[in-house]
This record gives sequence, C-alpha cells and structure tokens, in this order.
Amino acid sequence: MSGPSHDNHFFDTFMLVLGILVLIAFGLYFGASAISARTQETQVLADPMLQAKVAERIRPVGKVAISGEDNSAVAETVAAPADLKEMPGDQVYGSVCVACHGAGLAGAPKFGDKSAWAARIAQGADTLHKHALEGFSGKAGVMPAKGGLTSVTDASIMAAVDYMVSKSR
Ligand code: HEC
Repeated sequence: MSGPSHDNHFFDTFMLVLGILVLIAFGLYFGASAISARTQETQVLADPMLQAKVAERIRPVGKVAISGEDNSAVAETVAAPADLKEMPGDQVYGSVCVACHGAGLAGAPKFGDKSAWAARIAQGADTLHKHALEGFSGKAGVMPAKGGLTSVTDASIMAAVDYMVSKSR
C-alpha cells in the first residue's frame, strides 16, 4: 500500500491543511487588530472628564514670571474671602445681639439702659466697634467676637453697635 504516490498524496494533503491553518492564523490576527482599534478605550480616552483629570495630573507645578513681560497669566489666584453678608444694624441686633443685650444677660449692658451704657459710650465709638468685632472680656462678662454672627461684614456689626448706642444714650 505504501509507495511514492501515497507519500505524495499525504504531502499534498498535509500542505493543504497547513496552508488553511496559516490562513486562519492570519485571519485571526488581522481580525483582532481591526476589532482592537475600535475598543472602548478610544471612547474612554476621548472623554472630556478623563481629559480634564489628566490635564489636572500633568499640570505644571510652577509658573515663571519674566520681568518686563505681561505676566497676568501667571498671577496667583487668591481664594476669595467667604462672602460676607451686608445687614442693617437693627437686623443684626435683632438676630443675635438681642440674645444677650436685650435683657442684659450674663453681664451684657442692656439695650436702652442709659446708665449701663454711659461709661461704655464714653470710651468712644472706635473702642466699642473694636470690642464688638474682635470680642472683649471685661469685668462684667464675655462679649463674643461679632456676637457670634461671623457671616456678616464688619460694617454690619459696627452698624449694630451704633444702633444699640443710639437707643441707649
Ligand atoms: C453671648 C452674649 C452676647 C452677645 C450675643 C452679644 N454680646 Fe455684646 N456684650 C456681651 C457682654 C457680656 C458684654 C459686656 C462685657 C464686659 O464689659 O465685661 C458685651 C458688651 C458689648 C459692647 C460694649 C463693649 C465695651 O467696650 O464696653 C458692645 C458695643 C457690644 N457688646 C456689642 C454687641 C453687638 C453689636 C452684638 C451683636 C452683633 C453683641 N454685642 C452680641 C455679651 C454679648
């Protein structure tokens, strides 16, 4: 049964099978490359959120200002101070100061009590403003800074002092 023709036939079949396998291997290779070019990764990389994160990570740590040049782009952005509210003096008084000064609690000079205020008013408006803004510990008790209302401007607190003083002299 064996002979040159049998060997030839085996060889031809063998080469044919080998050729088909090689073709399949190439097909898989190019097919995979074509698919991988269109993976999710391309979408992920194009995502603006991701790009913003990357930009933040690779942001330069410093900037150089050159004398004589326009350096406005280099200017440090200073965090704006917390937004303080402007409030009329009588409203400030009504929202916090009244808690102590209304009834004269804890040694606070009572609103409208002329004798309690006379010596304090005599210190001058600047001292009263300063004590109300920064807080003050006197013989009578403790006046907290801004009466505890730190969300309003200094001017609002000073207006409240002026309001109390005007009603107590
Ligand atoms: C927790 C209570 C309390 C609150 C709230 C409070 N005060 Fe007073 N305040 C006091 C006390 C107590 C004194 C007196 C301190 C002393 O002389 O020993 C005082 C004193 C003062 C004085 C006189 C300071 C001086 O030099 O004699 C002013 C002005 C004043 N307060 C303004 C205010 C204003 C304005 C507010 C509201 C924004 C306010 N206070 C809220 C307790 C308070």
